[in-house]
Amino acid sequence: MSIIISPSLLSVDFLELKKELERLNEIDELWLHLDVMDAHFVPNLTFGEPVLNKVKTVSKHKLDAHFMVTDPGFFAENFKNVGLHNFTFHWEAITDHEKLIHKLKAIYPSVGISLNPSTSISSIPNSIWNQVDLVLLMSVNPGFGGQKFMPEVIDKILELDQIRHTNNYQFQIQVDGGINDQNAGYLIQAGANNLVAGSYIFSEPNKDYASRINKIR
Ligand code: DX5
Ligand code: ZN
Repeated sequence: MSIIISPSLLSVDFLELKKELERLNEIDELWLHLDVMDAHFVPNLTFGEPVLNKVKTVSKHKLDAHFMVTDPGFFAENFKNVGLHNFTFHWEAITDHEKLIHKLKAIYPSVGISLNPSTSISSIPNSIWNQVDLVLLMSVNPGFGGQKFMPEVIDKILELDQIRHTNNYQFQIQVDGGINDQNAGYLIQAGANNLVAGSYIFSEPNKDYASRINKIR
């Protein structure tokens, strides 16, 4: 699998949103990570469909939405026309996972589940793995950018990669939270192929985001 970097919009300079998106358009093999928060599942509120409809008109990258929301089923409908490539919801948010996955599959090209640091791989029923296109392992507690990376995620990547390998499942392993040039190599070695990074990329003083992205790669 090729390595995809998914810069998180949460850390851009929102007063320069268009320019920031154009800077990212100069770089290839990116997804654009969109953290949708509802101030209920997590204690923070970000952006919704009206903003992302504008983002879509500028960004050339595949839109990778990470829903940290209590009711992902509502957002599945609400975001139908935004043109998302990937729709990831949190495993902890709901109970009828298969029903939602089925619904999402009819709308979005890629469907992901996200696991909080405290959610174990073994708590996910085996029947789920071949129904999803992506598994997002959180390496911080969700809600905010700029938090410290939790190295415990590496054991979870290894465990998940083993399950994927043994059964020849095709899902991507994405990791999100506190990723930088120091820890990215360990994540990729353990089996991750899709890395989200926010503050590390967008804190580059000269806005040379390609240099930070290349360091991660
Ligand atoms: C946190 C979000 C992340 C966040 C990552 O809840 O899911 O996508 O933007 O930001 P950094 O890379 O700064 O930890
Ligand atoms: Zn995220």
